[in-house]
Amino acid sequence: MSQQDDLFKNIVSHCKEYGFIFPSSEIYDGLGAVYDYGPYGIELKKNIQDFWWKAMVQLNENIVGLDSAIFMHPTTWKASGHVDAFNDPLIDNKDSKKRYRADVLIEDVVEKYRQKNAKEVEKAKGRFGDAFDETQFLATNPNILRNQQKIDEIEGKFKTALEAGDLEAIKQLIVDLEIADPVSGSKNWTDVRQFNLMFATQLGSLADDSNTIYLRPETAQGIFVNFLNVLNTSRQRIPFGIAQVGKAFRNEIVARQFIFRTREFEQMEMQFFVRPGEEMQWYEHWKAERLKWHKALGFGENKLRYHDHLKTAHYANAAVDIEFEFPFGFKEMEGIHSRTNYDLTQHEEHSGKKLRYFDPELNQHYVPYVVETSVGLNRTFLAVMCNSYKEEALENGESRVVLALPAFLAPIKVGVLPLMKKDGLPEKAREVMSLLKFDHQLFYDEKDSIGKRYRRQDALGTPYCITIDHQTLEDNTVTLRDRDTMAQERIAIDKLPEIVAKKVGWKHLL
Ligand code: GAP
Repeated sequence: MSQQDDLFKNIVSHCKEYGFIFPSSEIYDGLGAVYDYGPYGIELKKNIQDFWWKAMVQLNENIVGLDSAIFMHPTTWKASGHVDAFNDPLIDNKDSKKRYRADVLIEDVVEKYRQKNAKEVEKAKGRFGDAFDETQFLATNPNILRNQQKIDEIEGKFKTALEAGDLEAIKQLIVDLEIADPVSGSKNWTDVRQFNLMFATQLGSLADDSNTIYLRPETAQGIFVNFLNVLNTSRQRIPFGIAQVGKAFRNEIVARQFIFRTREFEQMEMQFFVRPGEEMQWYEHWKAERLKWHKALGFGENKLRYHDHLKTAHYANAAVDIEFEFPFGFKEMEGIHSRTNYDLTQHEEHSGKKLRYFDPELNQHYVPYVVETSVGLNRTFLAVMCNSYKEEALENGESRVVLALPAFLAPIKVGVLPLMKKDGLPEKAREVMSLLKFDHQLFYDEKDSIGKRYRRQDALGTPYCITIDHQTLEDNTVTLRDRDTMAQERIAIDKLPEIVAKKVGWKHLL
């Protein structure tokens, strides 16, 4: 097992041990790829969601919110193309009986070549130092060129096969690349088949086809079908956006890597309605804005990258992913799509209702074009966890696990810890709680040694601990301990609200 595998395993265990994430219905041995969020998980998830909402709705006068229902009229999914085209190509290994996404098997091979090139660049940087010219190296190094040629070749064939819907060609590519089952090593594959990802269920008591409805596989359609309602009630003019956070469901063929790919998940989506012909400029705008948001979550420049789609979804004319480097490699966290006027036009046709905008400057009615930003809340959670989890060796020979979360995301902002359970210290600590609890999520803890209590807060990612000791009773000061440096300062109690508010604020980030 690689170091990165070990690290990921430790992160998953940490999430369980410290009340962030539990397997669903665990007392019945769990349900595959379904998870529950515990006391600290829900706080962290809520903080990420709030940060998205603030960045999108609160800071943009021309974006408004919506909360549409999960159940929608079945024709929605016919119109949107999901009934006919929301498929993944799946393949089974005949020996291991394991099922895989054919596209993911091929993309994993491409990613290996990319990683090889990244390593070549790192090595060369070390060799040449300041004199290193990366652009020239990428354009001339024979190993890089050979790997790049291989990548282009694979992607070219894959794109052609996808565009033609040629499942035999996809299978042939898997055979030609000698892809083996990652579990058993076997190359004994079935044919590739298409598999629709929507969950169907029945509405009401009659179980016939006319009552079949779907659990929404994306929140976006709730926005499209409400386009006119929002336009007519919000005084918005084009360009404007509608934002929504909510659950989506996909019957994923391969749900793995913890909460990275699950069958029930949450999306934070925004559809931005623009004039036809202006969509590419808005696409570039949102591409840049969304990358800024991810950086504000504390992800370093080298942890994020854009990845253009080889084949766009059935509704898009341009698409890019923002990828994060998880311990298991660079993977999609957000999709940005130029969805043209596909969805609104389809809903016009299927509903018989005009979904148009009258543009007073052009004196013209039209179906707006749409640029969409769509980020997974759970995936962002996982990225934040992976980015923050640290196992540190301390100077005194001990070690600690610390979640170096950006303070504004931390589930608990301040741990309030009376040094002892006597002498009036708990009562004084309760006074400190009252001073801060209306503005911040706090954690009161008087059990165990102070060292153990600090470690517990470090593991939860709490940026500050306040310790109330005997000196507090004399001069109304406390010690304020910083999670990252572990340094402690003596602070007057009445200064605490200002200091904590400054630390956990988010204003400077956007
Ligand atoms: N409305 C566009 C749309 O749904 P997508 O690229 O299929 O686009 C957007 O999904 C985001 O939703 C992804 O970037 C990912 O973060 C998240 N997502 C998609 N499927 C997921 C799954 N099975 N589990 C967790 N998150 C998922």
